[in-house]
Amino acid sequence: MDLELRPGTPQDYDEILRLDSLAFGEHFTQQDAADAFDGIPPTFTVATVAGQLVGVTGHYDFTMTVPGGALPVPGVTWVSVSPLHRRRGVLRALMDRQVRDFAAAGVPAAILTASEGGIYGRFGYGPASSTRRTVIDRRLTKLAQSGQKAGGEVRVLTAEQARPVLPELHRRWREQVPGALNRNESWWDHLFLDREQHRGGLSAKFYLAHPEGYLSYRVKDNWNDGIPALLCRITDYVIGSDEAHAALWQVLLGMDLFQTIESEQIPVDDPLPFLVDDFRQVRTTAVNDGLWVRPVDAAATLAARTYPVEIEAVIEVADPLLGDQRLALTGGPDGASCQPTDRPAQVSFGLAGLGSAYLGGHRLHTLARAGALRCDDPRLLTRLALAFSTDRAPFHGTSF
Ligand SMILES: CC(C)(COP(=O)(O)OP(=O)(O)OC[C@H]1O[C@@H](n2cnc3c(N)ncnc32)[C@H](O)[C@@H]1OP(=O)(O)O)[C@@H](O)C(=O)NCCC(=O)NCCS
Repeated sequence: MDLELRPGTPQDYDEILRLDSLAFGEHFTQQDAADAFDGIPPTFTVATVAGQLVGVTGHYDFTMTVPGGALPVPGVTWVSVSPLHRRRGVLRALMDRQVRDFAAAGVPAAILTASEGGIYGRFGYGPASSTRRTVIDRRLTKLAQSGQKAGGEVRVLTAEQARPVLPELHRRWREQVPGALNRNESWWDHLFLDREQHRGGLSAKFYLAHPEGYLSYRVKDNWNDGIPALLCRITDYVIGSDEAHAALWQVLLGMDLFQTIESEQIPVDDPLPFLVDDFRQVRTTAVNDGLWVRPVDAAATLAARTYPVEIEAVIEVADPLLGDQRLALTGGPDGASCQPTDRPAQVSFGLAGLGSAYLGGHRLHTLARAGALRCDDPRLLTRLALAFSTDRAPFHGTSF
């Protein structure tokens, strides 16, 4: 197989769409193509055999919140290989080329979300955050202590009213949450297209906004022979304060005709179970990997975040593609620096292990037990575990 790799161009869009339609089992339309490629065009790398496109990867440019700051990160997307050319190394060739391109461009780290959990660890991406699906039987659940009147400061917005209001609420929210991704104006326009064929048979989005956050949801009607049992599915969950959290949930839990409230993605540390009168009613039906992180320039990545306790350690990072590194990290609540060093390593990370540790979504002791990092000094490991921890669980909040 004579594989060639090159940057994708707009002339490749039709073929890319055909490839991804087949790979993901979706009949993408020309409208989908225009929405995706004109609205929020990814940067593509394509693989060809005898001039025919057999594989693709792409990325969007995001800014990701990290503790104490933000990191520019490419978000890998539109990955697929023709079913006629699978398991012959096409994806590996694309992934290697893409990461080398990222390194040449000075990118500190790359991120992605995965269709399947078994694909990307081998390419140095580590699962760094988790998403949680929840189901609530609304009729059995209410806020335990609710001093507020229903509604309070919550407003119901139409899509037209929501479009100018939500970006600022989202910006203020994302600055608080490690792993949260920015949305540029084109991204917001894309989200508000809300095309009927992508609603999964549910309604257009409804919007509930508070001065410090919002949520959007869809509804599926079910009149259930006179015992209404409508389904509410939360689609965007952007809640920037405890007051907003309580107020928005109070309104949602007061929707008499809803039986079930589902969240596609909710942070694993969301306080809702502690706010309702029955902890168990916030049923978690799945916890999955969310964001995957691949350090590209490990020193720049480590220096970009703050650490809640002072930490000094020599860290070895194994990177089979770009080369192993030994780095001296000095960090604390006010900032960090990280440089190459010849001093002996005190802790060794596999590349994916460092990605998993970076946003504070996984305990270092857990990663050590799985062999994703090695540290022979238990006191240093405990100190590192504290240093990498974050006040909030990482949550990316934007599908891509
Ligand atoms: C996933 C996909 C891109 C893999 O492409 P491919 O060209 O067959 O992959 P490669 O031959 O380069 O495989 C590279 C390695 O990944 C492994 N791998 C590939 N697909 C895998 C999968 N779905 N699950 C687990 N491992 C997988 C291969 O076994 C190989 O392992 P090795 O390093 O031990 O040799 C392709 O199967 C596909 O298009 N799937 C449907 C769309 C999709 O899910 N895309 C990913 C979106 S996030």
